Amino acid sequence: MTTDHDLPSPPSVPPSASDERREMKLHWFLPTGGDARDVLPAVDKPGQRPPAREYLAQVALAAEANGFEAMLTPCGTGCEDAWITTASLVPLTERIKFLVAFRPGLLSPTLAAQMASTYQRMSGGRMLVNVVTGAEPRELHRFGDFADKSTRYERTGEFLAIMRQAWSGEPIDYSGTHYRVEGATTRAVPDPVPEIYFGGASDDAKRVAAEQADVYLVWGEPPEAAAKQRADVEARATEQGRAIRYGIRFHVIARPSAEEAWAAADALLAGISEADIAAARRDFEATMSEGQRRMAQLHGSDTGRLVIHPNVWAGIGLVRGGAGTALVGSYVEVADRLAEYHRYGFDEFILSGYPHLEEAHWVGEGVMPELRQRGLLAGRAVASSPVFSFR
Ligand SMILES: Cc1cc2nc3c(=O)[nH]c(=O)nc-3n(C[C@H](O)[C@H](O)[C@H](O)COP(=O)(O)O)c2cc1C
Repeated sequence: MTTDHDLPSPPSVPPSASDERREMKLHWFLPTGGDARDVLPAVDKPGQRPPAREYLAQVALAAEANGFEAMLTPCGTGCEDAWITTASLVPLTERIKFLVAFRPGLLSPTLAAQMASTYQRMSGGRMLVNVVTGAEPRELHRFGDFADKSTRYERTGEFLAIMRQAWSGEPIDYSGTHYRVEGATTRAVPDPVPEIYFGGASDDAKRVAAEQADVYLVWGEPPEAAAKQRADVEARATEQGRAIRYGIRFHVIARPSAEEAWAAADALLAGISEADIAAARRDFEATMSEGQRRMAQLHGSDTGRLVIHPNVWAGIGLVRGGAGTALVGSYVEVADRLAEYHRYGFDEFILSGYPHLEEAHWVGEGVMPELRQRGLLAGRAVASSPVFSFR
């Protein structure tokens, strides 16, 4: 199988070049469901990497060494628990933060505030939270959550209001539709107060994000479409008198040359069978997630229309739920695309690649220096001492 690598059109003209002065943050992803050189895990194939602590530590250390800011750690039945896994990695790392995903509906907001507050003290302030309201009934029912979607988002809004207040040092009494608490607080104010990241493309999701999130997240769509999502949330946040940041989630295949990158994309596609695509398509057709529906629409399960914007490839989303697009290209091209999304108002980039260990080095050694050279990314390469050469 080969991909259509022809670039459909030149990069679109960004809305404002001056925005480029805002600082970018690059995050990596912790594959707590396991990792491989393929998109879909296959138990009968060699080269599968279960999510053992030793392996996840290697990925976290590689991300830390390359200067990534935080590790997004997902939640769901197929993953190890994000709180416990990341807490186990804290003593093995020094600086990198953990962006811990969890479903608010499954915890009391005061308990979540306490857990995050403790996490900050035990980790030296290395926690961020990703609030996942959830969309797929089968997954939610496993955890005993039978509330409908608008109820779940309403509950998320109340949850976040209480959690924030419980972190403030001023005990809160709250009586809403979903929660009633009296004197909710934590032992000490967390330092820093964890920032709240939030994904969800439905109308209810955007409303709650505008009211409560610090960073609104989207999956990687073409720049204009992603920017439209962003503008919608920004307008709602402005109405609330709030200014928030925006982040976007992509896989990456970055190599010294475009040819090498597209060869790696082709190799990933070659590992995906027609049967896998058909099975995923049935799941996508039944999805209750607006974000997932948008991801699936980008390719329509058609291997002939995977390049949806220059260097933006939807091949992974043929079979993977959630983040389905990758930035594919030379280091310079991938940096160009990140800069383009940055001009569209996205400051935080949550990246990943197959396998996560190797791709962290490709991006860290190839793309990040390019971004630093352009003044887009703060910090320096971590390996700053000379490397001995056997000459
Ligand atoms: C960057 C990003 C990361 C997400 N991570 C998870 C996750 O780890 N687990 C999960 O169940 N849903 C995850 N989601 C899904 C959303 O949190 C949300 O539950 C879902 O999109 C709700 O559907 P909606 O798009 O219809 O609002 C993520 C979404 C985004 C944009």
